[in-house]
Amino acid sequence: MILNGPNLNLLGTRQPEVYGATTLADIEVMCRDAAKSLGVTLEFAQSNHEGMLIDQIHAAKSSQDGIILNAGAYTHTSVAIMDAIASVELPVVEVHLSNIHARETFRHKSYIAPVALGQICGFGATGYILALHALKEHISSS
Ligand code: DQA
Repeated sequence: MILNGPNLNLLGTRQPEVYGATTLADIEVMCRDAAKSLGVTLEFAQSNHEGMLIDQIHAAKSSQDGIILNAGAYTHTSVAIMDAIASVELPVVEVHLSNIHARETFRHKSYIAPVALGQICGFGATGYILALHALKEHISSS
């Protein structure tokens, strides 16, 4: 499952100088193409609400093999999302379009990173494709 957090529904028009011109719908198409060639079944979702993201993570426990998560700004604030990931014990790859470590100091802290397999940031939409490959590789070899 690829799960996207707050404000990512606005990609394409949201601060294009930071996040680029690619829309979330474009990213979904790219990911579905990549998933198809990898032989992976994909659920793709977005929510602006922390509790909804947590519910999706809980539901994934029984229906998904892993999660690619761009939690948006909740990355930097949400102990609750960190706890949800730790609770379901699914492999999670953290993705960010921008390089959060090269931005404001408050974006350097990630509550997701300690409970994630790894983090991919700074490669724009390509980061989701890299994450799909990484997660597929991890799941196949474990
Ligand atoms: C983001 C980075 C976050 O700091 C920001 O709040 C976002 C998007 C990214 O994909 O670069 O909403 O997760």
